[in-house]
Amino acid sequence: MLDTGLAGRTVLITGSAQGLGAALVRAFHAEGAYIAALDIDDAANRALATGLDPDGERILPVRADLRDPGAIDAAYATVRAWRPVDVLVNNAARPLAKTLWEITPEEWDEVFAVNLRAVFLLTRAVAADMRERGFGRIVNMASLAGQTPRPTGAAYGTSKAGLISLTRVFAAELAAYGVTVNAVAPAMIDTPMVRSVGPDALAELVAQVPLGRIATPEEVARVAVFLASRETFATGATYDVNGGTLMR
Ligand SMILES: NC(=O)c1ccc[n+]([C@@H]2O[C@H](COP(=O)([O-])OP(=O)(O)OC[C@H]3O[C@@H](n4cnc5c(N)ncnc54)[C@H](O)[C@@H]3O)[C@@H](O)[C@H]2O)c1
Repeated sequence: MLDTGLAGRTVLITGSAQGLGAALVRAFHAEGAYIAALDIDDAANRALATGLDPDGERILPVRADLRDPGAIDAAYATVRAWRPVDVLVNNAARPLAKTLWEITPEEWDEVFAVNLRAVFLLTRAVAADMRERGFGRIVNMASLAGQTPRPTGAAYGTSKAGLISLTRVFAAELAAYGVTVNAVAPAMIDTPMVRSVGPDALAELVAQVPLGRIATPEEVARVAVFLASRETFATGATYDVNGGTLMR
C-alpha cells in the first residue's frame, strides 16, 4: 500500500461541499489528514464536516466566495491560524456550457475569477508559507475540457487550459523550495451535475469512453491523494483520468 505520509498533515480543499470536493474531503480524511474545507455553500459544507468529524477535530469548514480576493485572504488567515497548510487542492470551479454567441461578459469574468484568479491568489498565499517550511503539495483540478476543444467550452475549457499552464509555471517557480504542483484532468465524473443530462445523453457520452463508463469521484480523489503524498517525484504534470478518452 502507498504510504502517503498524509496522517497528521493539513490539507486545504476548495469547493469541498459537494461532488468531487466532498469525495476529496472523504479521501484525505481517511488518510488521517486534517482538512480545511472551503466552500461558498456553508450549509452543505458544515453538514459534510459534521457527518465525517462529529467532534470538529479534524475538519474545519470555512465559508468563502472565491470570486472575492478579500474573502480569499480572510479565509486563508482563518485556516493558517488553525494549522499550517501542507497540501492545497484547488478544486472549486464555476462551470459554464455556452457558445461564443451566448456567453455574457459577466459570465466570462466569473468563470475566470473562480477557475483561475482564485487559484493564483490562494496558491500565492499558501505557497509563501510552504516555501518557508520547505515542503508543500499543490493539486489543481483541471479537466479534459482544457485539453481538447469542445463547442460551448470557450470560457470553462479555456480557463482549464489556463490552469494546466499555471500548474507548469508554478511548478517551475516552486520546485526549488520542495513544493510540487500538479494537475488532474478528469473527463466526466459521476456527480449529480453529470447525471442531470438524462439517461440518453449520458449513454451517448459514455459511448465515447474506451473504458465504457464515467469515473467515480473516488477514483479521481485517489489520484489527488497520490499527488499529495510525501514521496513524489512528479511536478508540473497533468494526470489524465479520462477512461482513455484522450490518449497522449
Ligand atoms: N464533474 C465532472 O464531470 C468534472 C469533469 C472534469 C473536471 N471537473 C472538475 O472537478 C472539480 C469539481 O467538479 P464538481 O463536478 O464536483 O463541481 P460541483 O459544481 O459539483 O462543485 C463545485 C463546488 O465548488 C463550490 N464553488 C463554486 N463557486 C464557488 C465560489 N465562488 N466560491 C467558493 N466555492 C465555490 C460549489 O459550491 C461546489 O461545492 C472542478 O474543478 C471541475 O471543473 C469535473
